[in-house]
Amino acid sequence: MRVGLLTGGGDCPGLNAVIRAVVRRSLQHGFEVLGIKKGWLGLVTPEVRPLTLDAVSGILHVGGTILATSRCNPFKLDHGAERVLEHFSALGLDAVIAVGGEGTMRKAHRFATLGMPLVGVPKTIDNDLPGTDATFGFDTAVAIATEAIDRLHSTAEAHNRVMVVEVMGRDVGWIATYAGLAGGADVILIPEVPWDIEEVCRLIKRRHWRGKTFSIVVVAEGVRFSEEDEPGGIAHRLAREIETRTQFETRVTVLGHIQRGGSPTAYDRILATRFGIYAADMVQRGEFGRMAALRGREVISVPLEEAATGLKKVDRDLYAIAQVFFG
Ligand code: F6P
Repeated sequence: MRVGLLTGGGDCPGLNAVIRAVVRRSLQHGFEVLGIKKGWLGLVTPEVRPLTLDAVSGILHVGGTILATSRCNPFKLDHGAERVLEHFSALGLDAVIAVGGEGTMRKAHRFATLGMPLVGVPKTIDNDLPGTDATFGFDTAVAIATEAIDRLHSTAEAHNRVMVVEVMGRDVGWIATYAGLAGGADVILIPEVPWDIEEVCRLIKRRHWRGKTFSIVVVAEGVRFSEEDEPGGIAHRLAREIETRTQFETRVTVLGHIQRGGSPTAYDRILATRFGIYAADMVQRGEFGRMAALRGREVISVPLEEAATGLKKVDRDLYAIAQVFFG
């Protein structure tokens, strides 16, 4: 059995842990593993490398992906899907394990319906993939954002400032909610929950009236002032409005790709390893057209279609807990 393994979409900490686990388990099953470079692109224009025991040694704790990644969508390229299917056969592959977020799972689902034996593995720092309770990468991103918020507290207090911290989450506010809660944010804004600038300023002023000299506002990058607004640049606009309306000096920190870089947490290494082992076992069982997923404490499999439909939004009960600490 020859298994192709690819990582697609934005990278996230834990990808190398999955690669290592898939290869180690596959070798136990007597499979050969071919690493497909740069996501789906590596099957459009074939670019592969054999994944041996040696190739995956020493990578468990390393960020990024030794296979490289891209957001390539073969269905948008001229004869892209045909080329993928052609190269799948030409490379002598019997199955593909695709590690990715919603974009990668949507493409995996389409290739599965075209007859490719596919297994999905969920990843994303955004934690927005449906069908699984958790994705690896999220815990690391939350830890990085929480540390940043902790650090911003002391400088905010020293200067009596409002700090606006923008975290990733183009469609959902999981990182903002978790890091905001863990870091003791005074306001958290997420794309799922309507908000109002007057209310944000009221909360900050209330806090300052009761003697506090600084505030931390955490905002997910996907938050907009109005439906008509283009996404992006929210933190700077928000800071300008807060400063003008409250007269409190305000500064901005945009965490950006720092949240996706570097070594995964122990939790993410373990989750990624469990998913990798399970995915190789799914191939061995011929359990195709499905994605490994976490349900409670168990790793199970769900139809790829489940992961390819919609987004997992922030739990409103959790957001309500965070709101208790606003202002
Ligand atoms: O991985 C998802 C994500 O982190 C989003 O939150 C963010 O908008 C996006 O990736 C940015 O990624 P890139 O700069 O690689 O397109």
